[in-house]
Amino acid sequence: MNISAAPGSGSNSSSSATAPFSAPIDVSGIDVVVLGGGRGAHRVVPSLVDAGASVTIVAADVRATLEELPGGVRVHRDTWSDSVLEGAGLLVVTGDEPAIEGAEAGAFPEAIVAAVRSARIPVARADAELRNGGDGSVGVAEELKGTVALVGGGPGDDGMLTLRGRELLMQADVIIADRLAPQRVLADVPAGTEIIDAAKIPYGRQMAQQAINEAMIEHAKAGKFVVRFKGGDNFLFGRGYEEALALAEHSIPTFVVPGVTSAFAGPALGGVTVTHRGVTHEVTVISGHVPPGHEKSLVNWPAVAAMRGTVVLLMAVKNGPAIADALIEGGRPADTPVSIIESASLSTERRVDATLASLREVMAAENVVPPAIIVIGEVAGLPQVLAPDRL
Ligand SMILES: C[S@@+](CC[C@H](N)C(=O)[O-])C[C@H]1O[C@@H](n2cnc3c(N)ncnc32)[C@H](O)[C@@H]1O
Repeated sequence: MNISAAPGSGSNSSSSATAPFSAPIDVSGIDVVVLGGGRGAHRVVPSLVDAGASVTIVAADVRATLEELPGGVRVHRDTWSDSVLEGAGLLVVTGDEPAIEGAEAGAFPEAIVAAVRSARIPVARADAELRNGGDGSVGVAEELKGTVALVGGGPGDDGMLTLRGRELLMQADVIIADRLAPQRVLADVPAGTEIIDAAKIPYGRQMAQQAINEAMIEHAKAGKFVVRFKGGDNFLFGRGYEEALALAEHSIPTFVVPGVTSAFAGPALGGVTVTHRGVTHEVTVISGHVPPGHEKSLVNWPAVAAMRGTVVLLMAVKNGPAIADALIEGGRPADTPVSIIESASLSTERRVDATLASLREVMAAENVVPPAIIVIGEVAGLPQVLAPDRL
């Protein structure tokens, strides 16, 4: 993890709290308090959560993506109070909390120094060291300036981001990142990179698409290299083409780096193949964000029900049961196997099995939450022969 630790524990000199040393820290199972909820926190909190830490963010303003991280973080919205450190095993100072003046400059405020000394816990600082320079600057290739790359991040684990996608992220001046994009990789980008949180959370806070487009246009016109970073593949229910059109209107050169889509990675990680020789010759990928019969639905559900192959539903946690009803009504056998893969590739990944008939009951009983892929068809009933990846 890209953080460095300062020996605040039991230290008697204030200089030790301001002189970080690089050291790997095992944070698994540890209560970690993070000061700040902005850019610096965005760089380290996903890695901390992923590494098994129990994270409390102390900040008046916290990026929505961090609050909604699978696995969860607690947020303490007040400014500093010594009680925050009770039970904590590590304090991380990110330098992006205005209420905690001095942290960014490298000197911890007196109150924190005193509290850390009496609590005797280690202190770490979000690392400002860079792979791409060392001074916080970003090295952007000349031909990328003023352009936008639409980069697909894969299902969520940064190991499933493409090499090209990672390469471009490391060069970006500005990254506009969605919640479902792999957050952990953001810990590795140069400190000078601006990270904008688009926080597209279902039924929750959203940065309007218009605002995202405007941000891309404004930064590209200023000569910056912008990466629009999304989960999965930008062109599968990712508004990628919509964004490309908006950029084209402003003559901004735009290119795409395809990502591993959750539509196929999700089932595969859950041990479900979407095709199998002799079983199915077709896969239909459908958005379930509106239910059958909805005035905005563009799906011919009777036609889907009449097909025999695999159906993969995205954005269907809310409407999955209504879709199952429509498929049964359209002639699909009620005992057709269904698998739900929740949070594919993330530490909270799980697979839940049902049938079309039992889907409503099973999803409620298992409290299935987004993001999840629902796979319908005989393939979901094949024997499970794959071992889980040790990510
Ligand atoms: C707006 S769509 C974006 C899909 C994305 N462009 C892709 O190619 O994966 C969001 C939906 O993708 C699915 N999804 C994305 N990441 C997922 C994950 N890690 N596990 C399960 N489903 C996921 C869920 O169905 C979620 O509601």
